[in-house]
Amino acid sequence: MERRYPIDEEIQIREQLRLLEAVSVAPFRSLPATRERRPTHRETRHQPVSFRREAPHIPSTTFGAFGLYRYPAKFIPQAVAYVIDHYATNRSRIIDPFAGSGTTGLTAYLYGLDSELWDLNPLLQHIIEAALADPSLLHIDALIETLTRSKAFWLPEWSRMDYWYPEPALKLLGKVWGYYHLEADGSLRPLLAIPLLRATKLLSYNDPQRQKLSRSPKAIQRVERLLREGLESRFYAALREEMARTVQKLLEYQHLLDPACKPAIRVQAGVDSSELAESLPDDARWDMLITSPPYLQAQEYIRCSKLDLFWLGYPEETIRELAKRELPYKKVEPFEVLSPTYCEYAEQIQESHLLRLYQHYFFSVAKTLTLLSERIADTMCLFVGQATVRGKRIPTDVIFAEHFTALGWRHEVTYIDKIEARVMFRSRFNPATGIEDHRMPTEHMVILRR
Ligand SMILES: C[S@@+](CC[C@H](N)C(=O)[O-])C[C@H]1O[C@@H](n2cnc3c(N)ncnc32)[C@H](O)[C@@H]1O
Repeated sequence: MERRYPIDEEIQIREQLRLLEAVSVAPFRSLPATRERRPTHRETRHQPVSFRREAPHIPSTTFGAFGLYRYPAKFIPQAVAYVIDHYATNRSRIIDPFAGSGTTGLTAYLYGLDSELWDLNPLLQHIIEAALADPSLLHIDALIETLTRSKAFWLPEWSRMDYWYPEPALKLLGKVWGYYHLEADGSLRPLLAIPLLRATKLLSYNDPQRQKLSRSPKAIQRVERLLREGLESRFYAALREEMARTVQKLLEYQHLLDPACKPAIRVQAGVDSSELAESLPDDARWDMLITSPPYLQAQEYIRCSKLDLFWLGYPEETIRELAKRELPYKKVEPFEVLSPTYCEYAEQIQESHLLRLYQHYFFSVAKTLTLLSERIADTMCLFVGQATVRGKRIPTDVIFAEHFTALGWRHEVTYIDKIEARVMFRSRFNPATGIEDHRMPTEHMVILRR
């Protein structure tokens, strides 16, 4: 048999597959055809839960394709699995209008459910394409050999490249990204993109631990050490590791799929969901909406993804335009938020720029979700953090629950989970307000039903 992976990796992959035999796929294949509707009579509508514990059929938060890319504030796949296990039928069609790295769609896919994913960030498309690609196309040794010999050259058209990478790194990166853009086969590209992006980060002065693009002494030291130790050999070694990691992640993920069932994931990446929601075709209908909207404590996803987007070929102008549409920065028209709690908290915010941020956040997110809610037949699940404004915690979950209850939805329950494993930015300051941040200790999942 032809050997695809270096011998150590092949042993690891075989070991991994052996371990996977123990992971049961049964929970993914046993959704009911219908669900009984029973009104809930709970004393309290808040319920503590540990999604990780309740959905052990996904063995870890970074399992398989869920760990391909470190997307900020992604939610854990077990949270989506929990909602599907409790509320979906085997025919539910799901939409996530703020899909980020695609956790909702990738989880739904495991259950054989069709999904539609929207996000402003074009990375979504690349992550989904990679997750569903055929890992056997990645012949690591041969590919590394081809890359080292390639004569192609391509660099992003961005004047500030030398601020982020030393000259020798740009020479090397120009070559490997030249292969990606100019020579690689269309079926190989999705598989190459993720390992290339991850290995490219190693050569950058950007500090991946920081919220915004920024150089740090630690990142500069890392690059200088690589330059001393031999940039090229260290880079290719890292790239080889990243390729093997990608193969392993895809094998893990795809092992759980039902070969007899090929659900659809429809992706609209690089789109503004607040605009899409306003011009939905008449027949746009879904059974469930599962989403984690942007945070009131804005994360600046586009800005953080900027270097990766440049390498993937997105022009500076496109990235600038996308950043302007990011919620809650985008200027929006007032929208009526039907929540007494919303009004109560608005009255307590003294500073006008904070009040504007608060209003714009709720105008834009509530409007987008309200427009979409008209097309949802069954369940909406909103996974929100408890952001703070001037140190005061804003009960985002209560505000959305009140708003949709006023529109005729039934607030079934709010699950509360601790978020220690969620990938968050590590920053002391909220970039939107410049104010010291008290990070959210819990995540609240609001379940609304027709
Ligand atoms: C909390 S994240 C979602 C993370 C996702 N649940 C995951 O698991 O990766 C919120 C997302 O909203 C997106 N977003 C912000 N403004 C948007 C807009 N105007 N249109 C569409 N998406 C937007 C951001 O790009 C980000 O990916």
